[in-house]
Amino acid sequence: MKRYLMYINGQFVPARGAKWFPVYDPSTEEILAEVPDAGPEDVDAAVAAARDAFEKGAWSKMTAQDRGRILFRMAEKLRSQAAALAKLETRNCGKPIAESEYDIADAATCFEYYGGLATKVMGQVNPVPANALCLSMREPVGVAGQIIPWNYPLLMAAWKLAPALAAGCCCVLKPAEQTPLTALEFARWFEEVGLPPGTVNLVTGFGETAGAPLAVHPQVNKVAFTGSVEVGRKIARAAADSLKRVTLELGGKSPNIFFADADFETAIDGALFGVFINQGEVCSAGSRILVERKIYTKFTEAMSAKAKTIRLGSPLERETKMGPLVSKEQYERVTSYLEIGKREAKLCAGGGRPSGFGKGFYVEPTVFCDVDNRARVAREEIFGPVAAVIPFENESEAIRIANDTHYGLAAAVWSRDIFKAFRVVKAMRAGIVWVNTMQPTYVEAPWGGYKQSGYGRELGPWGIEEYLETKQVFVNLDEAPIGWY
Ligand code: NAI
Ligand code: MG
Repeated sequence: MKRYLMYINGQFVPARGAKWFPVYDPSTEEILAEVPDAGPEDVDAAVAAARDAFEKGAWSKMTAQDRGRILFRMAEKLRSQAAALAKLETRNCGKPIAESEYDIADAATCFEYYGGLATKVMGQVNPVPANALCLSMREPVGVAGQIIPWNYPLLMAAWKLAPALAAGCCCVLKPAEQTPLTALEFARWFEEVGLPPGTVNLVTGFGETAGAPLAVHPQVNKVAFTGSVEVGRKIARAAADSLKRVTLELGGKSPNIFFADADFETAIDGALFGVFINQGEVCSAGSRILVERKIYTKFTEAMSAKAKTIRLGSPLERETKMGPLVSKEQYERVTSYLEIGKREAKLCAGGGRPSGFGKGFYVEPTVFCDVDNRARVAREEIFGPVAAVIPFENESEAIRIANDTHYGLAAAVWSRDIFKAFRVVKAMRAGIVWVNTMQPTYVEAPWGGYKQSGYGRELGPWGIEEYLETKQVFVNLDEAPIGWY
């Protein structure tokens, strides 16, 4: 049994309480490794290391050029280790190997992007009506506490670490308890690439015992979280006491809207890909599929038929298009929604465990048709391979249904009519809107939600903003004394 250590202050260490917990391969249900079960005292040590590193300035006061170069080296390491990391990612979270390979490449690109951006953080001269030089300069926010989920383990670590490091922050990152392994492997190279001790600390543990103490820690200046709305609310409340900065990337129930004039075959593939990629364990999953009545029957038949052909299997096999869900907990959660959906709507494909799988948390790609937007399977995030197909009569009804949700992460619209497509784009209350595609995500573009999908934006220049403070510097140029006393 492989035992990993976590990474605090440049050292690989066990938990102070000497406790461990297992992580699994969800395709075999076998234990893959054990990792330290961190508690509040480990979080304290990690935050103290990050605080000390930040105050001493080995990272925060390093030149932006040098920080950028180290981020490039982190990217290079990811690229040179990509095959092994992708395999480990797939074994730990169950996603098809090709998807893990994309994720590792994207993680590397993320470090490259922010390595480049490190030297482009600039201040301003503000034109105040005074004989003065009024400047605004940007400074790192300090220590960042970062809590991430299990659906894109190493990629989410990159989305958190890269902008924070580019800004000059020091980090304490808590991976999801289900999937800490790739981040721990990555940490083996932190010293070699030149990260000073304490700059990045990794604490492995559960939400209540390691995540919560990080979110509430008075020495943490900013918390960045990706995960459930429920925990997002807890984090916002916990952060309120010390008024730390918070960014939240929460879930969604994103509409994928198909008008009758969309290219039919592409539309079917777009509907399937939008909701079943990564087994549907995607915050931006197109889980509500809105279809214009004129093509509704043909669409649901074609979509359901094709859903049944999606190849499930061991995620390490190249032919596999869908692997198992990440954990027993998620499997139970998703399958409970299958039962709810069978009572609420018409089951057109899937609906259970695929046959021929003795082990592993596999769920069939499932399509519910004739779903009412008020049904639970249309309102609640399922985070598994479950599509709710909803008919609509016309553009205004499509817009109304699409926006009738507490969430606002993403939306997509498919049509050949650019006037109509752009009217829908403008009407969507969502942070990301795709036209004639769904899911492509690039580090250069903003990512985040409206409404209860969270606050703040990740990626691009928006992502680094969240790790920067703004300081006004006012330089008096008048030699005469100021004031009237
Ligand atoms: P979760 O929100 O409980 O877990 C995400 C991260 O938060 C993990 O690192 C976890 O350890 C941590 N966490 C949990 N409780 C915490 C607390 N009280 N304080 C601080 N950190 C805490 O998500 P979970 O339970 O894995 O999945 C439940 C549902 O959440 C999913 O079915 C899905 O609907 C949603 N979800 C959304 C994600 C997204 O990308 N927006 C990612 C993962 C889950
Ligand atoms: Mg949870």
